[in-house]
Amino acid sequence: MKTLLVLNGPNLNMLGLRQPEVYGRETLADVQALCHSAGQHLDLNIEFHQTNHEGQMIDWIHQARGRVAGIVINPGAWTHTSVAIHDALIAAEVPVIEVHISNVHKREAFRHHSYVSLVAQAVLAGFGTHGYVLAINHFAHLQRTAQGAAQ
Ligand code: DQA
Repeated sequence: MKTLLVLNGPNLNMLGLRQPEVYGRETLADVQALCHSAGQHLDLNIEFHQTNHEGQMIDWIHQARGRVAGIVINPGAWTHTSVAIHDALIAAEVPVIEVHISNVHKREAFRHHSYVSLVAQAVLAGFGTHGYVLAINHFAHLQRTAQGAAQ
């Protein structure tokens, strides 16, 4: 079974409490349950992590290299600031889907630029927590079509 890494950056442990008018009332544990259930339906093993420490995030991204089929990442505020995470994602050589719960383009100008989008295969913003499920479904779709092409 293929593995997908679902990575969450700073402050996402506060989901459900933090700005519910922007991010909704679901907690990160709810998001984790959604991702695991999507993975089960699609025969994908989901590894789900959150950290407030950039070095930890970079270590997880490095460890993905040669090991996982894809990375779904909500980098939180590091989206807009971190060249280091951008570089780590390139070094991992693994397909990346960037997810934002909110529609960052409807918000402050500093959220309009993403270092991660430069290296992501696809970007989902504004779908709420369903964006994670959409990203996982897309990876399953890529797996199916890649297998189809190989047959
Ligand atoms: C976010 C959007 C970012 O701008 C913000 O810093 C976050 C969450 C989102 O999921 O909408 O922490 O990535």
